[in-house]
Amino acid sequence: MTVTTGSGATDEAAVPDENLVSLTIDDVEVSVPEGTLVIRAAELIGVEIPRFCDHPLLAPVGACRQCLVEVPDAGNGRGMPKPQASCTLPVAPGMVVRTQVSSPVADKAQTGIMEFLLINHPLDCPMCDKGGECPLQNQAMAHGRGESRFAEAKRTYPKPIAISQQILLDRERCILCARCTRFSEQIAGDPFIAMAERGALQQVAIYEREPFSSYFSGNTIQICPVGALTSNAYRFRSRPFDLVSTPSVAEHDACGAAIRVDHRRGKVMRRLSGDEPEVNEEWISDKDRFAFSYAAGSDRLTRPLVRDPETGALEPASWPAAFAVAARGLARAQGRVGVLTGGRLTTEDAYAYAKFARAVLGTNDIDFRARPQSDEEAEFLAHAVAGTGLGVTYRDLEAASKVVLVGLEPEDEAATIFLRLRKAWRANGTEVVALASHATRGLEKMGGRLITTVPGDEPVRLAEAGLDASTIVLVGERLAGVDGALAGALAATQRAGARLAWVPRRAGDRGALEAGCLPNLLPGGRPVADASARADLGAAWGTPSLPSEPGRSTDEILAAAASGELSALVVGGVELDDLADVEAAVAAVDATEFVVSLEVRASAVTERADVVLPVAAPMEKSGSFVNWEGRRRPFDTVLSVPHAMPDTRVLAGIAEEMGPGLGFRTTADAAAELDEVGPWDGTRAAAPATSTARAARPADDEAVLDTWRQLIDDGRGQDGDSHYRSTARPSLALISAGRAAGLGVAEGDEVVLRTDRGAVAVPVGIVDIPDAVVWTATNSNGLPLRRILGSGYGDLVTVERVDVPASLEERSDDAAAGETPADVADAGPPHPHPHPAPTENVTHDETTSPAERSATDADLDASHEREGDR
Ligand code: SF4
Ligand code: FES
Repeated sequence: MTVTTGSGATDEAAVPDENLVSLTIDDVEVSVPEGTLVIRAAELIGVEIPRFCDHPLLAPVGACRQCLVEVPDAGNGRGMPKPQASCTLPVAPGMVVRTQVSSPVADKAQTGIMEFLLINHPLDCPMCDKGGECPLQNQAMAHGRGESRFAEAKRTYPKPIAISQQILLDRERCILCARCTRFSEQIAGDPFIAMAERGALQQVAIYEREPFSSYFSGNTIQICPVGALTSNAYRFRSRPFDLVSTPSVAEHDACGAAIRVDHRRGKVMRRLSGDEPEVNEEWISDKDRFAFSYAAGSDRLTRPLVRDPETGALEPASWPAAFAVAARGLARAQGRVGVLTGGRLTTEDAYAYAKFARAVLGTNDIDFRARPQSDEEAEFLAHAVAGTGLGVTYRDLEAASKVVLVGLEPEDEAATIFLRLRKAWRANGTEVVALASHATRGLEKMGGRLITTVPGDEPVRLAEAGLDASTIVLVGERLAGVDGALAGALAATQRAGARLAWVPRRAGDRGALEAGCLPNLLPGGRPVADASARADLGAAWGTPSLPSEPGRSTDEILAAAASGELSALVVGGVELDDLADVEAAVAAVDATEFVVSLEVRASAVTERADVVLPVAAPMEKSGSFVNWEGRRRPFDTVLSVPHAMPDTRVLAGIAEEMGPGLGFRTTADAAAELDEVGPWDGTRAAAPATSTARAARPADDEAVLDTWRQLIDDGRGQDGDSHYRSTARPSLALISAGRAAGLGVAEGDEVVLRTDRGAVAVPVGIVDIPDAVVWTATNSNGLPLRRILGSGYGDLVTVERVDVPASLEERSDDAAAGETPADVADAGPPHPHPHPAPTENVTHDETTSPAERSATDADLDASHEREGDR
């Protein structure tokens, strides 16, 4: 038999015949690309050589020796004198390889290695989390001896040791394959674990003064071929054979990473990375892996609620009654209703909102941008993004000669993009260029070049990136707050013949754009202002006329609601704390006569709504996200929760009370209709006009605020796993050495960032950053900047040295005594979303309080005790 293949693990372009190497494995001739490892070539003829350290996405190391094969002919007519590790041996023309299938020598070598590996392994499979899905267990059954000849005492270690607050290591189970250390060093770029000691004492260790701080640490658990690495969240909670596994898609960012969700008796027990070579390969961030408990908290909404006109309280109601009340209220406000949607929506749900707004409410007042936004951004999205289908892809990033990041920090904001760019830099030398105020850890790990940019100066600095036809420019949603940035990036890439992609923050944003949740765009990227586009959609919907006036943006909808121009709102998936002016948004919702809220959990909107309709969380429904590439990422229902309805079904229920309905009730029908409507093939909306805006000019005591959300922060989608949350990076106020000297502060001292709305005190970090800039995280460590300061990216704040007043020292004492960050931020009368502290009060960074640390340690101790129990 002869087997010829282009490539093993990936479906890259076909390899020319002259680059193929022919060899014989177990008497089968196989032709594979030059450089292929013998272990991969054997897979192609269906022979699985046992292995532990080998991983197709990690550089070969030959650590475990389990994959030994006999090589009677190395291709030069001479045999290799002893068995060879097939995971480090490249093929050679004419090579002859014999695996365990046809060689007693290879078989004996593999059995012998297995015996060595098991000498010190505790064989505690019945209590080990990996039992049932353990490569060591499985391969020992297939390639090991039936009985052990080792009668001596096994090596033991105290167990487990905490590699981080989330990752625990049982050293006696480790077989020293170095998968975890290689992943950390090669893939994540966080080499805080390493092999220490030698011989029988060799072990995985952390650097004493640097904890294992990585956004990707959970991947080490998944690729560990034994149960040596476990997570605090899952350890001893379940067994593989208890679990039902469902492929799904991560909902925390716009990357569309494939995941696997394992649940048992209606409860999600863990999430793992899926294997999707086109998207996330085999890696996910810790947020995608560990942040899944948010929908199971006590604030979960389970029943429709309707506000009692007499008591003013929200009272449980039946679904039909709630639909009827919502329909009556919206019908009363017909023509004066705004629709606000947020990033948790699937594409199908977003389509339901878009159709509900146009066909039922008769308005274009709908916007998915639950964050600062601009008209320029809406025009940019209409011209360059909506309805364009699959654009720049992960593979394109990997192959690009240069990738320019503008208003985007991928390690924090789009973790899968970060991993692919790091891979591109390491494998292909891709130049990563960032327009940013300072070089982040992520940029350093991508080997990136910084073009130092004060927030707001992006339009003028972009010219320094040297765009050409092979460049890809990635623009983040923060640029919506910078005049001329998106228009400038678009014009510059078009001039250079480069490619451009928009990377939003939330999973549902691109799908919402495609579905028509924008005031100037109908589904499929049809411009509202284009009569033929409206007619096209009207024909598809069977609606003779659609509203022709471009609608209001999120901020304009809220302003109109506050002024009484709009008298009703339909809100789904919006956190008011994310909006540009939180105080104004809260006041607007308060002032609105009739508010219908479709939400998973109680929120500032549901507290103020007249009708609250509980909807299904992503894991409880099917649907799809469209990721930043424009790739549709469908997923199925993981948990069947009785009465959990997707937004689509709820909106259909209201629409049917108001008239003929939406024309669909299910997610599948909504998807089918959206496919039928299709993308607009007529004239596209015009590009936004460019302008030459510059950064704000700070006074001496002021700075331009640079800020974004860190990957692990206080976002509500991350509630419920304290171990995960405790791995968040600290939030610092990054300032220059010059400003620090001017203020008379050193690293670790606190500075106060102040606006006329409020003030926050944050520890100082001194970095290479323009004197005019201060950076701090948007929503970390109990400090939601939008809510407290009323400011965001590119705004001016004053930076002051803290001369600690007595009131602050008292607060610190409170925190040490167990007060949580939320307690501090919420100090004052109970309120679901408190208004910022008065300017004389300062809200403090509390994340690393001793109280929290000791709480986590106590959890760890409890984990040890559980293990002892078993
Ligand atoms: S902890 Fe697991 S992945 Fe790391 S070296 Fe040991 S066996 Fe390999
Ligand atoms: S798999 Fe080949 S040496 Fe480990």
